[in-house]
Amino acid sequence: MTQKIVVAITGASGAIYGAVLVVELLQRPIEVHLIVSEYGGKVMGHELGISGPLLPFLQSEFGLIPHDLSVLKEYSADNLFAPPASGSFRHSGMVIAPCSMKTLAAIASGFADNLIARSADVCLKEKRPLILLPRETPLSTIHLKNMLKLARAGAVLHPPVPAFYHRPESVRDIVNATVARVLDHLGISHHLAAEWSGV
Ligand SMILES: Cc1cc2nc3c(=O)[nH]c(=O)nc-3n(C[C@H](O)[C@H](O)[C@H](O)COP(=O)(O)O)c2cc1C
Repeated sequence: MTQKIVVAITGASGAIYGAVLVVELLQRPIEVHLIVSEYGGKVMGHELGISGPLLPFLQSEFGLIPHDLSVLKEYSADNLFAPPASGSFRHSGMVIAPCSMKTLAAIASGFADNLIARSADVCLKEKRPLILLPRETPLSTIHLKNMLKLARAGAVLHPPVPAFYHRPESVRDIVNATVARVLDHLGISHHLAAEWSGV
């Protein structure tokens, strides 16, 4: 059975993390079930200059060459009839990249009023991997408490905080290093960033 991953892009800064993750997944025989929130789309337009459909944009700007068996299925965030809203839809995990504090709060409080929060809620109840890339700074006690709640509920909190020990030379190097760790969490092999082998 083809592996399925749910990806959501919300309105926090850092749309490039979601874009690079989708590019990486589509270069493998993986079905990507993508949900972009209203503000996810707006911030992506602002930060990446995307206008129009995502797939041609990823092909022209990120060099995406989809794998023969890869599939991109896109859903509107207000479509609660979409497959990821149900626990009966079997997949290998969900990543929210980037994850806004609003979506984080919705998931932490079980307020599943859109497809992103509902799909994440389903991951937690079904004990499926849920990886969040929360982006905000500085963090209030409300943000921190929501993150703690989600970490305790089984989510992986993976803030896109750059590391410099691998000596990045570009924004893409920084993004790749974070996306590489997300792929590690999903058990997907990659050559995006070298494994640390000491000095
Ligand atoms: C340019 C821009 C950058 C933003 N950056 C962040 C951010 O880094 N973190 C965050 O939590 N919200 C950020 N926001 C606010 C969210 O977009 C807003 O709270 C929105 O309601 C999130 O909705 P969503 O989670 O459904 O996408 C930003 C908004 C704009 C317009």
